[in-house]
Amino acid sequence: MTTEEKHAWCPMDPQLAGDQRGGYDALREETGFAHDPRMGWTAMRFDDVVEILRNPAVFSNAAAWEAIDPDLKKDERAIPLSLDPPEHTQYRNLLKALFRPARVATFEDQAREKASRLIDALVEAGTADLVQGLSDPYPVQSLCTFLGWQDENWADIKRWSRELTRARAAGNREEADALFNMWRDYIRTVLEARKVEPREDVTSWLIELGEDGTVLNDEQIISILRLLLVAGHGTTTTAIGNMAEYLAQNPEKQQFLRENPDKLPLAIEEMLRYDAPQMAMPRRTLCPAQVGDQHFEEGETIWLNFLAANRDPRAFDNPAECNFARKPNRHIAFGAGIHQCLGSPFGRMEVRVALEELLKRTSSFRFAPGGVQTRASFPHNQPAQLDLEFVR
Ligand code: HEM
Repeated sequence: MTTEEKHAWCPMDPQLAGDQRGGYDALREETGFAHDPRMGWTAMRFDDVVEILRNPAVFSNAAAWEAIDPDLKKDERAIPLSLDPPEHTQYRNLLKALFRPARVATFEDQAREKASRLIDALVEAGTADLVQGLSDPYPVQSLCTFLGWQDENWADIKRWSRELTRARAAGNREEADALFNMWRDYIRTVLEARKVEPREDVTSWLIELGEDGTVLNDEQIISILRLLLVAGHGTTTTAIGNMAEYLAQNPEKQQFLRENPDKLPLAIEEMLRYDAPQMAMPRRTLCPAQVGDQHFEEGETIWLNFLAANRDPRAFDNPAECNFARKPNRHIAFGAGIHQCLGSPFGRMEVRVALEELLKRTSSFRFAPGGVQTRASFPHNQPAQLDLEFVR
């Protein structure tokens, strides 16, 4: 039996799909590195994942994304996610300013207004799907505000993001190309409008940067905006859905947070650890490497499973317990190292605001009797439909 066969797993295994947290817990205890013929290796344990994240000179993002999509043109690379240093460092330094906590705080009122409106409609309905009514629309609408875009096209943006992710995962180059072109045209229209009439928004800010120091050209701006539009809402959708689902099943914790709203930020961190919204991200070896007792040749893809790593008993006491008082909590739901989530201040604010309003505007919510509660499967880790009954 080869090493690959010894560590074989299938992410599409229906049993795993039914209980991803439990399934990955079991797999992580069976093996530190699982192997799937299509995906390559997946690191399951906390220390191994962190070691790989912190060594970009050996474990490359650029090579990983290139291997996933070999036909990808240079200007289609996601800036800064699919770049390595020194290119990555240059963009990252530039984009950091966008997500400074003080800047993010200026969007809180608008996010709250959107969340409140959506939650009021859910409560008014009495019984409704939280995914359709809140966790899908709210993050993408808030992101549009942040970027300075009208949010009327939020449903299209959500659909196109899903279609692009699906087409790339399935290796459907023709469909991915068509979607890339459509994204480019869509973003370019806004870009041209901002050139004529600049506003106080991220899109105008990226254009000004380009004019000042000739740092960014149109293709680079489009790539940055496309990454934010594709990556800047799905994880937040997942985080809000997971937290609402957990609280619906645990009324005493729901009531605790309603009575102690100051404990919410700590509870959100624990929920991100307990049920990581971003399931996994890839790296590729640029030379032979050793992690623990696993050897890798040059050019091997390793996925980093954040869900399994965050529930590793070697790193967390009682990891299968969702403990809202856990402190310190060194979870890696936002990654670690040079690619650690740039948008985390914005994501954290969005999740907190949605949960604050949900708890404030209800006296309780629970699974709707006779309703549908289903979860999406790999690579997603979130409720697909979450019918809840809301009591004012
Ligand atoms: C709860 C919400 C979120 C979670 C759990 C999350 C998770 C992650 C993770 C795990 C990474 C690291 C990827 C890697 O190492 O390969 C990442 C990177 C990134 N995230 Fe997030 N994210 C969230 C929200 C957001 C939001 C709201 C935005 C933007 C508005 C955003 C923008 C980015 C960007 C631009 C990167 C790439 C950073 C780089 O390559 O330097 N994220 N995110």
